[in-house]
Amino acid sequence: MRAPSSDLPLMLEDVSILAREVTILDKITLKIAAGEPTILVGPNGSGKTTLLRAAMGLIAPTRGRVTWGGREEVPPARRSIVFQRPAMLMRSATGNLTYALAAARVPRAERKARADELLDLVGLAGRGDRPARRMSGGEQQRLALARALAKDPDILLLDEPTASLDPAAIKALEDIIRNVAARGIKVVMSTHNLGEARRLAGEIVLLHRGRIVETGDAQSFFTQPKTEDARRFVAGELLV
Ligand SMILES: Nc1ncnc2c1ncn2[C@@H]1O[C@H](COP(=O)(O)OP(=O)(O)OP(=O)(O)O)[C@@H](O)[C@H]1O
Ligand SMILES: [Mg+2]
Repeated sequence: MRAPSSDLPLMLEDVSILAREVTILDKITLKIAAGEPTILVGPNGSGKTTLLRAAMGLIAPTRGRVTWGGREEVPPARRSIVFQRPAMLMRSATGNLTYALAAARVPRAERKARADELLDLVGLAGRGDRPARRMSGGEQQRLALARALAKDPDILLLDEPTASLDPAAIKALEDIIRNVAARGIKVVMSTHNLGEARRLAGEIVLLHRGRIVETGDAQSFFTQPKTEDARRFVAGELLV
């Protein structure tokens, strides 16, 4: 059963992040509520990873504030992040999951069964004994997702989870993401793949130079973009 308090909605209110005088995020206001996945798109360096890190609470805003379920400084017990190149422990796949389950305070006696469920969820059933670091890139990405789900989060933040995967592996990962979303976990994900954004998004956030250019439901974003930049982005033109 879920704890009564939730990390949703996740709110960024007038968030700016500066690194050595350079503005990386510029007055971002965004409400992330329960529902279909929110997909962050935008060119390289537009601030997607930084926004995800701020949403996780890994970087504090220089100005503005981030709140989870209306509260500030909430420890990350109900949200998870998967980085672009996840680092697995030098253990088996199951070992990586039981480690995360222990960290999430799942009782020892339940960990193996939960690890098996998670492996099954990400299509790695029967591969729990494999050394995690020897698994393929696509398998490690799915294992990282399983690990992120160990704490049964309200919010799952994913930074370009399908970058460098082949089409079959992308499809496998997208199916898992849909499955996770169907379980009521809010997915917030960055991608460079517009096809993937179309397939998965409930809501799109287009970033450019640290600012939100446009945000809205995916259907209208792709069919009737409101801004010239979004129109060009959807048409596959370069935003510079
Ligand atoms: N700690 C930091 N110090 C200085 N600059 C930084 C720091 N972190 C990020 N940046 C800069 O902020 C900008 C946004 O970076 P970020 O990684 O968030 O972009 P991104 O949209 O994820 O890009 P990509 O698509 O390449 O992953 C970049 O120009 C980056 O160089
Ligand atoms: Mg990035």
